[in-house]
Amino acid sequence: MEITNNEQPPTNKKKEMKKKIVILPGDGIGKEVTTEGKRVLEKIAELFDHTFEFNSAVIGHDAIEATGNPLPDETLAKLKNCDAILFGAVGHPKYDNDPTLKVRPEQGLLKMRKELGLYANLRPIKLFDELLEASSIKPEILKGSDILFFRELTGDVYFGEKGRKDDGNTAYDLMIYQRYEVERIAHKAFQAARTRNRKVTSVDKANVLESSRLWREVVQEVGKQYPDVALDHQFVDAAAMKLIQNPRSYDVVVTGNLFGDILTDEASQIAGSMGMLASASVGDKVGLYEPIHGSAHDITGKGIANPLASILSAALLLDISLGMKPEAETVIKAVEAVLKSGYRTADIADAKTAKDKILNTQQMGAQVVTRLEKVASKATMATNN
Ligand code: IPM
Ligand code: MG
Repeated sequence: MEITNNEQPPTNKKKEMKKKIVILPGDGIGKEVTTEGKRVLEKIAELFDHTFEFNSAVIGHDAIEATGNPLPDETLAKLKNCDAILFGAVGHPKYDNDPTLKVRPEQGLLKMRKELGLYANLRPIKLFDELLEASSIKPEILKGSDILFFRELTGDVYFGEKGRKDDGNTAYDLMIYQRYEVERIAHKAFQAARTRNRKVTSVDKANVLESSRLWREVVQEVGKQYPDVALDHQFVDAAAMKLIQNPRSYDVVVTGNLFGDILTDEASQIAGSMGMLASASVGDKVGLYEPIHGSAHDITGKGIANPLASILSAALLLDISLGMKPEAETVIKAVEAVLKSGYRTADIADAKTAKDKILNTQQMGAQVVTRLEKVASKATMATNN
């Protein structure tokens, strides 16, 4: 059948994509860094002819102040009805030293992870060569490190029964895992390893904990379905040591919620600074993208936070949730180009960085946006030639 449409002349333009993105700034520097992440997404939409419809919502301390609830129903409804979420951080110092406060910002984050079924937290630890000197670890140990963490995100001691007894003098948090929870994250890790160096390291504490013994048993079983992927197991204490002793020995690491929380903060030093680390939380449907750094109230409002983790989270969002690989690569290349030009935020500057190359949050965002145009036009020129 021949289709004619006289009103619209044929065009070489790629099909435009319409996507709904919720920006969830949260607390502290979350607002400052997601502003830059959003700017990058807006520029990508413009350069690649997409329409991104942005919506924003409150979570964490801000949401408690406004509604008494760290994850209001209105926020949750928006999150359930979008294609992807760009999240900042939650937390406020007011709660940190007052353990008696019952309603806490972090509950919003945990509830969101659970409600959206975000059971797999991907934390890629990749060092940009330009930042070799920014880490406190020796460059010769770091060079070439490239680790992908799969942190289980909706189970473990985070969600097990917790409480107090004996008039408040005894407290407990149950560390609990079910077989299916371990199976699904293990599959994700093995599948990812197939696209990388085919090595999975599973981290647990099976010499002491029963939940870890189940973890190890299930990972071994799942591993049999991936005979082409090498599997080894490490205890978490040993892994904490080996991670900085020989980071290059890891490819994909899969671990539980608590161990993953701790090890990925440690691993951020392999990427130079926590301000560089992006993460993706995926599972049942919508994906959530966030820096691994927290709300950082010590620098909030100073305009000096590094927006690159949020910008790199936006790249993961484009890649994983929107299936826009070239767009994601454009963002990563733009970040690389900015770092190559010597620009730094304070957290990744070193003794050799010239004063005029140290940028604030907005300036760093603006540099990336400028490079996006250059990278995208270079890519178009390459395809046209
Ligand atoms: C993280 C954070 C959170 C966690 C906090 C803010 C609850 O540290 O995403 O790593 O422990 O999961
Ligand atoms: Mg953490």
